Amino acid sequence: MAWLEGSALGHLMRESGVWTYGCVNLVHILGVASLFGAVLVLDLRLLGFWRKVALSAISEPTVRVAATGFIVAVLSGICLLATKATEYVDNPFLYIKFPAIGLGLLNVVALNSLSAWKQHKVREPSSRERSKLAVIGGISLFCWLTAITAGRMIGYW
Ligand code: HEM
Repeated sequence: MAWLEGSALGHLMRESGVWTYGCVNLVHILGVASLFGAVLVLDLRLLGFWRKVALSAISEPTVRVAATGFIVAVLSGICLLATKATEYVDNPFLYIKFPAIGLGLLNVVALNSLSAWKQHKVREPSSRERSKLAVIGGISLFCWLTAITAGRMIGYW
């Protein structure tokens, strides 16, 4: 944390004007909103909502928007962290947020390992596969909601 705070990025964030932090924070929120907005629609579909709409029709746009939002959130988040990294060391919400993000990413790996997901553009999942997809969708909602809640709470500690 001390290294990050003392880095060129940390200096840039602190010394490049009063609006810098606010603008980067706005970019962070736009990234988070895009990530969670897309993930919410995909996860609800995995949980069984809107069965009449093909999963592939929903996965195509939502996966792209979620991935883009995630990259934007990570890049802007590192900038926010660099501003005053050492002040976050004692913040318990940081230690909830990052494991939640890690678990969310592991869940994405788990989803991508399922043959039902790999083949969802060419065939419908069986009822057993649908249950597995629903579990993944539920875990995903839990992870990203936890990350958002902890992220919001960091500032209030
Ligand atoms: C490497 C990735 C990330 C880093 C380093 C990071 C870091 C940060 C930092 C330092 C803050 C400011 C806390 C404060 O002092 O108020 C913040 C805010 C926040 N982060 Fe992240 N973040 C990352 C990714 C994410 C992701 C993926 C999400 C959502 C799933 C997220 C959700 C939030 C939320 C909701 C806030 C509160 C913003 C506000 O209320 O103004 N962050 N993040």
